[in-house]
Amino acid sequence: MSKPVLPTGVPEAAATPSATPSATPITAAPAPSAPGPASPKAPRGLYAVDAPHVSRIRVHHLSEFKRHHQRITAVTCYDATFARLVDAAGIDVVLVGDSLGNVIQGQDTTLPVTVDHIVYHTAAVARGLERAHLVADLPFLSYRSPEVALVSAGRMLAEGGAHAVKLEGGAEVAPIVQALVQAGIPVMGHIGLTPQSVHAMGGHRVQGRGDKARKRLIQAALTLQKAGCYALVLEAIPAELAEEVTAALAIPTIGIGAGDGCDGQILVLYDMLGLNPSFKPKFVKHFAQLGEAVVHALRSYRSEVMHGTFPAAEHTYTDPTVASAPRRDVAG
Ligand code: KIV
Repeated sequence: MSKPVLPTGVPEAAATPSATPSATPITAAPAPSAPGPASPKAPRGLYAVDAPHVSRIRVHHLSEFKRHHQRITAVTCYDATFARLVDAAGIDVVLVGDSLGNVIQGQDTTLPVTVDHIVYHTAAVARGLERAHLVADLPFLSYRSPEVALVSAGRMLAEGGAHAVKLEGGAEVAPIVQALVQAGIPVMGHIGLTPQSVHAMGGHRVQGRGDKARKRLIQAALTLQKAGCYALVLEAIPAELAEEVTAALAIPTIGIGAGDGCDGQILVLYDMLGLNPSFKPKFVKHFAQLGEAVVHALRSYRSEVMHGTFPAAEHTYTDPTVASAPRRDVAG
């Protein structure tokens, strides 16, 4: 079956005055002297429409985004159909997150997710993506030693088609990051609320509050950068701390529940599309109400089937050599 043709680019961004065709191409823009948080005045989402020559977002593009104060857009994704839509919207980074344990598998935590699960979904997403940078999550206990991590991460790239892996943890995972980076595997770190440690953290709680926790988190960020991470997810930490971390790092930060001072933002796709209308924590915005739309569509389908209005003639194959049978009456 051929791939459906989808429009490319971000219409809203294209419509803004700053998204002009004359914007500086990504490879030629001058580098500012020091890294820092994305400016609130910085234009957003331009490269999706202004750098058509960037046929694939790569690790070095994300650093360039940070240096140019261009915010990085990221979402999670778990299948090829959504991947095509995400790519069509011009999203820069796609994460096959272990949040699939929650949203796909219906688990309470991400702990039951395995390397096989992530590899399977990553391969599906990879088939739907052409432009976005694809990151596969290393699930619980799949990176408990450098040796185990190399096997797990190797599968993500070799079998799943990922371009990078993400792992959770602070200074304690630095040796793992080093081993992966040395093997040529780009690593995205993840600090703050790390759902794989949900039981150790006493639940899904905001992290990095108070002087000690704040300093520990900044130290973890610097250690992970030194170990070779090319980007860091900051989850559920105070906005002031996320901004401080972002300013202290040369690598980009991607926030979720970490305020607007990060270099980019990530949301779980199913959350931001409102597929589960009752799930609305503070950091989530429903950019659509797809859950309601799906139920509405299914109710219409059910009703039309019950009333015999679907399938209609245009949905029905006929054989001109056979006399047509009268339609059955169907109870409403
Ligand atoms: O698994 C996931 O979806 C994640 C994001 C929330 C960053 O780790």
